[in-house]
Amino acid sequence: MDVWKNFLIIKAVLLGARRDTWGTATRRFILMTMKKIKTVLIGLGTVNLGLLRILKAKATQIANDHGVSFIIVGVADSSGAAVNATGFDYEELLELKRLKMQVCELNGYLPKVPVETIAEYVSADLLIESSSANLSTGGAGLRIARAALKKGWSVVFANKAPLVFAYDELHQLANTHGGSLAFSATVCGGLPVINILQRDLKMSTLRRFRGILNATTNYILNELENGRSSAEAIKEAQRLGAAEADPTHDVHGHDSANKLFIIMKSFTNFTGTISDITVEGIQHLEVSEILQAKVEGKKIKLLAVAESESGQWKVSVKPVSVPSDSFLGTCNGWEMGVELKTDLYESIAMKNYEADPIGTSAAVLRDAIDVCERDAYRSGRPNKN
Ligand SMILES: NC(=O)c1ccc[n+]([C@@H]2O[C@H](COP(=O)([O-])OP(=O)(O)OC[C@H]3O[C@@H](n4cnc5c(N)ncnc54)[C@H](OP(=O)(O)O)[C@@H]3O)[C@@H](O)[C@H]2O)c1
Repeated sequence: MDVWKNFLIIKAVLLGARRDTWGTATRRFILMTMKKIKTVLIGLGTVNLGLLRILKAKATQIANDHGVSFIIVGVADSSGAAVNATGFDYEELLELKRLKMQVCELNGYLPKVPVETIAEYVSADLLIESSSANLSTGGAGLRIARAALKKGWSVVFANKAPLVFAYDELHQLANTHGGSLAFSATVCGGLPVINILQRDLKMSTLRRFRGILNATTNYILNELENGRSSAEAIKEAQRLGAAEADPTHDVHGHDSANKLFIIMKSFTNFTGTISDITVEGIQHLEVSEILQAKVEGKKIKLLAVAESESGQWKVSVKPVSVPSDSFLGTCNGWEMGVELKTDLYESIAMKNYEADPIGTSAAVLRDAIDVCERDAYRSGRPNKN
């Protein structure tokens, strides 16, 4: 009886708070009764700083709607790691990077401790891995994720590299030790390609996938069509903060290939490795080819394509000319888009416009909330009343 009474009281409090009729005191009560998710942030660059800004702005909404609050008990950047069992203030971390300082200047810094071993120095539930991608070895991100999963933590990735190197191993570690993995931010930032495939199209089988997965190259192609040179377009993309200082990875098609690999591993029976994807970038494309396509009512796009032929996947990234008025032909500039065919849902197409990386930070947050709800469900402790 008491259990039900308490349940009804908490439910009434939550409903009151949702309608915002009980004011600040109620919200404070809810924040106190929330499940605190002890979280470690790897990387304090664009993505995780955007995440901290959203967490700061929406803490009450996250608590009201999902019953959780994220307590940042550990952080790391290229200078090292720092821990704080009671939680770093979001604003303290934002201010640190506003002042161009590093984690080694925080209280709680762990001198001489390699970032990879942070899981030995703090107890946590969740790791958010948004460090720089190391596409030669998987880098520190892969080593940290392995260690976190072995501790039973869940891991959310913005960094693609660990998944490209060790997709199966990371999933096995999560299964063995009871954590969850989420990585929707690694593919097209805010466009929920992975989530839609895994959650909304479940039980269907992919027949064909075609996508523009790299906004920088799509922007460059647009600018070439408008008469700019490739160097000018790259410079502008860099000025806007969207292209890397070295855009080779984007321009040569490898970023699109990595995303296609993650899509294939997460939704199909593809058993290949990244080297099974044929990759041709836009570096050898002549402006005359783009202008000729325009005359013919077509556009050249850098497409990631996967097609199933007699049970075998043919996967590639290459420039392809498509009708200007087709779905992919109308994904311009900073837009990314995918169209897919499955056996049960026929054709589905979706696109986003994302010049601002905040969409990627928001994708990390949605994954973090999903992971908390999944973990709570599995342990029989729902966050929400
Ligand atoms: N930006 C986007 O729109 C976007 C979209 C999808 C995916 N991603 C991926 O998400 C990840 C983060 O992107 P970002 O734009 O936030 O990058 P960023 O601004 O360059 O930040 C990278 C962060 O990683 C830290 N770092 C570098 N090496 C490290 C190491 N060994 N151990 C711990 N931390 C290390 C850097 O430290 P310092 O601060 O000391 O330099 C920095 O804080 C990348 O893998 C990127 O490919 C980004």
